[in-house]
Amino acid sequence: MLMSRRRFCHQSLVALSITPVLKKSALAQALRSTGLKDLYKDDFLIGTAVSNRTLQEEDRAMLDLIAREFNAVTAENCMKWGQIHPEAERWEWELPDRLVRFATGRNMYILGHTLVWHSQTARDLFRAASGTGVITRDDLLRKMEDHIRTLVGRYKGRIAAWDVVNEAVDEDKGWRRSRWFEILGPEFLEKAFHWAHEVDPKAQLLYNDYNMHNPGKAKFVAEFVRDFKKRGVPIHGVGMQGHVGLDYPDIREFEASVLLFAEAGVTVHITELDVDVLPQRGASGTAEISTRVEYSTELNPWSDGLPTEMQDRLARRYEELFRLFLKHRNLIDRVTTWGTSDDESWKNNFPVPGRTNHPLLFDRKKQPKPAYRAVAALKTPS
Ligand code: XIL
Repeated sequence: MLMSRRRFCHQSLVALSITPVLKKSALAQALRSTGLKDLYKDDFLIGTAVSNRTLQEEDRAMLDLIAREFNAVTAENCMKWGQIHPEAERWEWELPDRLVRFATGRNMYILGHTLVWHSQTARDLFRAASGTGVITRDDLLRKMEDHIRTLVGRYKGRIAAWDVVNEAVDEDKGWRRSRWFEILGPEFLEKAFHWAHEVDPKAQLLYNDYNMHNPGKAKFVAEFVRDFKKRGVPIHGVGMQGHVGLDYPDIREFEASVLLFAEAGVTVHITELDVDVLPQRGASGTAEISTRVEYSTELNPWSDGLPTEMQDRLARRYEELFRLFLKHRNLIDRVTTWGTSDDESWKNNFPVPGRTNHPLLFDRKKQPKPAYRAVAALKTPS
């Protein structure tokens, strides 16, 4: 990754060297065109997730904002198996191609999300070819291999990193009993990493999961990462999703996991950061996307906007998180927020459908929030 970090430093050096010859108005323009990515250019990449809507509508305002603020992009949905490869012989390349074109043209770091996951899969993925019963182990391996070879192969050299496997661990209970695990056993992970590496040996290969601050989960992940490295399974990074709240988890637990993964010999990516500001009920603190909690008005207190004191709390929380990331800037390659503006956040509908959440750095009018300013201020000389 350090290679890509150097690439961005180089870019901004070029920008700096031309600044003196710009006229006044052009200078103001040049300053307006800088964003978080520039402030953090010597620390880590700053990324966002791009929604299907943005890609479908080719939403210029959103794409311009993304290009100004971020130097890394992840497809929020359009590269997931069920969307990009909904049937054995059908691939939907339109949206992923748009994203890759947009980002390649701007020299951005592209994340492929995700190759193997138990959610948002194709309907027939685990069905036997005959149409009845469960697929055999060999057939499922063949499907996985074909999927990885086709997808990684298409974007070889352009997608810098892949979330090869997403969410294969069940909190501190060890391997998640997913269909992948039940049919293939834990070997499915190493096969996926080997195939992805074979197709694009330069791509950074990550294991990605939520609640990685959970000490039991983090320990389990660090152990298999170490074991993979010992046995030559090509894994380069761990993605800590970072779907957090205003007061969970304790920042020290988050830090302990960053250190644990680094000690296991991989770089850390913060892959899906957002801060839920709404009340929690029932299944709080999980990012397992099948979770549903029934709507009630008490659970939706900020539907008319986030009051100032809550904006401040959110800003303080973002500040605390980014202070931690800066402290470990040598271990962290990238910090990606899961979306750009609050109106598009998945947190409006998860785990309670139909709420108004405010978890990101830009508000519903795409304006920077106090949380944005707090993150920027950490890198702005006062
Ligand atoms: C979410 C998307 O943001 C939603 O639009 C979609 O409906 C469900 O998935 N962990 C992940 C992401 O790895 O892919 C999930 O994204 C959020 C949790």
